[in-house]
Amino acid sequence: MDHVKPGAGRNGGGGSGLISGGVKIGISMPTKDLLRWNCDGDQMKYELEAAGFYVDLQYANNDVNTQISQLENMINAGCLILIIAPIESSSLLDVLEMAEAKNVTVISYDRLIMDSPYVDYYVTFDDYMAGAMQGEYIVNSLNLDNYPGPFNMEISAGDPADNKAFFYYSGAMDVLRPYIDSGKLVVVSGQWDFDSVSTQMWSTEQAQSRAENILAAFYSDGTQVDAWLCSNDSTALGVINAIDSFYSSSLYYPVITGQDCNYANVKLMLEGKQAMSVFKDTRTLASQTVRMAVQIANGEVVDVNDDVTYNNGKKVVPSYLCAPVFADSYNYEEILIDSGYYTYDQLH
Ligand code: BGC
Repeated sequence: MDHVKPGAGRNGGGGSGLISGGVKIGISMPTKDLLRWNCDGDQMKYELEAAGFYVDLQYANNDVNTQISQLENMINAGCLILIIAPIESSSLLDVLEMAEAKNVTVISYDRLIMDSPYVDYYVTFDDYMAGAMQGEYIVNSLNLDNYPGPFNMEISAGDPADNKAFFYYSGAMDVLRPYIDSGKLVVVSGQWDFDSVSTQMWSTEQAQSRAENILAAFYSDGTQVDAWLCSNDSTALGVINAIDSFYSSSLYYPVITGQDCNYANVKLMLEGKQAMSVFKDTRTLASQTVRMAVQIANGEVVDVNDDVTYNNGKKVVPSYLCAPVFADSYNYEEILIDSGYYTYDQLH
């Protein structure tokens, strides 16, 4: 397995019937701080080891240099496949050249690695669809097609260094923009272009301080905010903290969206503070990635279902997109507990 880039051609790398036994795989996750990355990493490690791979799983503490040196170590240790969720989409150019020189196959996991030709595959949930779900949830919750409004809304999007952040934002905004254009939804702060609403590193603290500033500047006169589009759970948490401290005894929460179904946010959903969270079952994504790794190691044709959407600036990266769903307080038992993702006790 060390003489050829495993599965080097998507049109079949030779179909040698090799098994994954003995192949080393490096998994590079951004941080342990958000529950989801722990679930992603654990699930992939478990399934890859069961398939006979040797696995090196590392978390980089949201620090780009740590991620790069972890990847260098993996390459030097003989990993032939790397599964990477980049911290910054465009910071891995040199280390990926090093990977290419050693015939390593690179799978970009959940987040797309940008600006490098050496990204072989991408596995993700459909990001645009996830954003559209958040937008549609707001439309339905405020009953925008039937009520005259106007309703007030604010927006907190993700990290501009993460290529996905823009897909989430555009999926949601393509649904919401017609209502903004018609005046039914009003972004009272006037901040709605991506640069104004983005949140560095998806940071809860940054989302919170921006939300505090917006509430103080535009809502102190009693104006009510009816919806707050948040691209994920860490930004939603910041917004909820800001609302909790701004309205010291708030019984009323705007329709706040999220993504990831973190425990903390599901609990907030059950308390009526967060309305929904897009659920991207990390077991689905991890299993799809493992399937891809096995196909690569065996030199088989690698399954992809999107050959057009994900241009990383150097190439269109062949991708496998999984479909997200959403959870809210009405369906969470079925989606999150009956599916075995969480236990009842974890959420109560
Ligand atoms: C992921 C989200 C996650 C965010 C912050 C994004 O790339 O798609 O699920 O909430 O990063 O870690």
